[in-house]
Amino acid sequence: MEEITTKNLEETQIFAEELAKKMKGGEVLLLSGDLGAGKTSFTQGFAKGLGISQRIISPTFIIMRSYDILENEKGFKKFFHVDLYRTESEHDIEGLGLLELMSDKENIVVIEWPDRLGKLKPEKRWEISFTTLSENSRKIMIEKYE
Ligand SMILES: Nc1ncnc2c1ncn2[C@@H]1O[C@H](COP(=O)(O)OP(=O)(O)OP(=O)(O)O)[C@@H](O)[C@H]1O
Ligand SMILES: [Mg+2]
Repeated sequence: MEEITTKNLEETQIFAEELAKKMKGGEVLLLSGDLGAGKTSFTQGFAKGLGISQRIISPTFIIMRSYDILENEKGFKKFFHVDLYRTESEHDIEGLGLLELMSDKENIVVIEWPDRLGKLKPEKRWEISFTTLSENSRKIMIEKYE
């Protein structure tokens, strides 16, 4: 378990950017925490670290967005940003084809509101939880399961 406290948005994004550089392909990151805790902000920094220059917009209303990752020596090709806040059942989620996406080494998948996954939660995953300590301070806890 790793834990860090960030004092502002930039610190969270830089931390995420560095974490992204450790990815090897096939990772699934589950981001949990209250509304406004920093999950999407983290994802923006993370995407930057994967080499994505496109702006990351919250996929709350459409549930999932995919981004191409520029050719890289690690072999991963696509980044998926998923926000399950508006899904109601595992049935909704099965329709997204997430299980397939999450088992592909060419993908990196970040999921906000992963409690909605229920039994679909993958065994191999990074769990990253965000706690709001004050207006600009967040505690971020990272645990890797494999
Ligand atoms: N240390 C910090 N780390 C991250 N965000 C911070 C920090 N301090 C302040 N913020 C602000 O908190 C907000 C975080 O919003 P963000 O959309 O990332 O949250 P979220 O967890 O994705 O929420 P939601 O559940 O609604 O999707 C932003 O407005 C950001 O500027
Ligand atoms: Mg969000």
